[in-house]
Amino acid sequence: MRIAIAADHGGFELKEAIKKRLSAPFTDLGTNNAESVDYPDFGAALARRVASGEFERGILICGSGIGISIAANKIKGIRAALCHNKYTAEMARRHNDANVIAMGGRVVDENTAVEMVDIFLKTPFEGGRHARRVEKISALE
Ligand code: RB5
Repeated sequence: MRIAIAADHGGFELKEAIKKRLSAPFTDLGTNNAESVDYPDFGAALARRVASGEFERGILICGSGIGISIAANKIKGIRAALCHNKYTAEMARRHNDANVIAMGGRVVDENTAVEMVDIFLKTPFEGGRHARRVEKISALE
């Protein structure tokens, strides 16, 4: 699976930890240090490359996860789910067919984040009645 990861300065440390602890090959779209940057730049850049099909899944991290998920969801075809724990990461895939997971580097601890990404990458979409609902979301675009 082709996976991209990106963060602002608020998510930089957690991004580096996730990359070290998960064996999946990630393409890192930055930021590359803890200097202050603007999260919409990183959220939109990753989202565009997921929407184009270059990457199948994306992982986004800012301080709270809120700003970067809002930015990503402005891109057509992106379903970015702001997740806080294993349950929300699993539901993001099972019910929402999320193609991007967003989280807060100042919100979730490293172990939780690693578990969430692992779940997000391996959990299938259930389809069925959930497909109808996801189609309705797409129709809103
Ligand atoms: C940066 O300080 C912070 O505002 C950003 O990382 C994020 O939390 C925004 O939603």
